[in-house]
Amino acid sequence: MIIVNSIPKLREARKALKGDTGFVPTMGALHEGHLSLMKSAKEHAPNLIVSIFVNPTQFGPDEDLDTYPRYTEGDTKKCESAGCDILFLPNVSDIYVPDAKTEVHVSELTNRLCGASRPGHFNGVTTIVTKLFNIVQPDLAVFGKKDYQQLAVIRKMVLDLNIPVEIIGAPTIRENDGLAKSSRNLKLNAQMRQSAPALRQGLLKAQAAFQNGQRSKEELERIVAEVIDDAKAGLRSDYISCVDPKSLEAYEGGEEALIAIAIFAGDVRLIDNIELHKA
Ligand code: PAJ
Repeated sequence: MIIVNSIPKLREARKALKGDTGFVPTMGALHEGHLSLMKSAKEHAPNLIVSIFVNPTQFGPDEDLDTYPRYTEGDTKKCESAGCDILFLPNVSDIYVPDAKTEVHVSELTNRLCGASRPGHFNGVTTIVTKLFNIVQPDLAVFGKKDYQQLAVIRKMVLDLNIPVEIIGAPTIRENDGLAKSSRNLKLNAQMRQSAPALRQGLLKAQAAFQNGQRSKEELERIVAEVIDDAKAGLRSDYISCVDPKSLEAYEGGEEALIAIAIFAGDVRLIDNIELHKA
């Protein structure tokens, strides 16, 4: 595995790869969720490039940029074992020039769910992903369904801007108790860690209701909220939204839906979602 820190070195190493290249952009603190994306990329293309870059522009002023975990040494080993060919570890000053005037903005899809609670977040994501696509020039890129809205926004951006990168969505990897793997889980105290699987339990209960014919947006959301409210320690909901899986607009009936949730466990914000369809 070649490790590169600068854009020119990345471009040079990229040129030497023969055949298709898959790309997995990450912010590090790698866990099995990230590793599953790398595995999926390897199934689609012989070459794999991974980036680790904690992107400052997608964090709000009161968010956890400064305390976001950074484990470059362990992450490097994990990438190597996952069969990564080039690991790209740029610095903030390589990626962002101070006088930049250009941003990528996807409208509508970014107003709702996490976009409503995290203003500017998705502009940060779409701008960095565009920049990374232009730097890495992959044939395909893999994103997790855990960040369902992020995946939907990137799919739309790639379509609208004719970006020649195939986008692959990969399933959410979970702990044994159902909690979606996330670097933020490490910040949960013991009590919150015990309560956190309620996110998944609530979503599964709503899925069971959907499969039994429940088609009311309000009722499906209420089922999730009830399970979360019943969890012992203070989980506080940011949003619990039943939406159309494509437009992410309010669900209005039909055989496909998505419930997306963001829940504060103490000051740690956890997200999860479930796709609903007939059994
Ligand atoms: P990060 O949170 O590091 O996630 C990198 C990728 O891993 C994303 O595609 C995310 O959906 C996926 N992922 C995270 N947890 C997962 C899990 N439990 N199962 C499956 N996939 C999982 O998402 C970002 O970084 C950034 O926004 C980024 C796209 C890198 C842009 O800065």
